Amino acid sequence: METLETIRVRRSVRSFSDKEITDEIIDKLMHAAMASPSAVDRRPWFYYVIKDEETKQKVIDNMQFGKYKSPVIIIPCINELKTIPFAKELAALDLASSTENILLAATDLGLGSVWCAIYPNKSHIKAIQKALNMPLSRTPFSAIYLGYPSENDKGKIKDKYDESKIKII
Ligand SMILES: Cc1cc2nc3c(=O)[nH]c(=O)nc-3n(C[C@H](O)[C@H](O)[C@H](O)COP(=O)(O)O)c2cc1C
Repeated sequence: METLETIRVRRSVRSFSDKEITDEIIDKLMHAAMASPSAVDRRPWFYYVIKDEETKQKVIDNMQFGKYKSPVIIIPCINELKTIPFAKELAALDLASSTENILLAATDLGLGSVWCAIYPNKSHIKAIQKALNMPLSRTPFSAIYLGYPSENDKGKIKDKYDESKIKII
């Protein structure tokens, strides 16, 4: 897909078919994730790619506003050991960018996806850390549900363009 077209047609998908996502596709998504820009090029990220049913259920049980059934869940995390000591907040921006890269790559590959928030809610972060037995140096940032859109996924592409939100000087 052409880049601008991929950006245009990306939308949140919350209902998925059972069709498996191959390792080759996961590999492409991970390459896209790590191609993200990052402040001072610290790349303060780490990714959990979850296919195991029991582990996915643990995530779902601990999500606040995003409980969906999908073949794969990716949890991009901040690697606190790699953040910039005097500007730790920048790591969250890196992870937001990396999350978006995954969504766009998924769209390009014909997959549906939805970004569900974990960061910056402290109790939510703790719950997911505990559920996945993560070291405390990993701060779960988002949960991305991934899969091929189900037949009954009625989602439409929205045109969110709004000229009134621009000032050209
Ligand atoms: C930071 C962030 C957090 C989000 N959290 C959730 C969530 O918890 N559950 C959910 O279903 N969607 C979540 N979304 C998806 C938004 O609801 C969605 O992007 C928005 O409604 C616009 O729709 P679109 O993605 O189809 O353009 C989140 C998106 C972002 C960027």
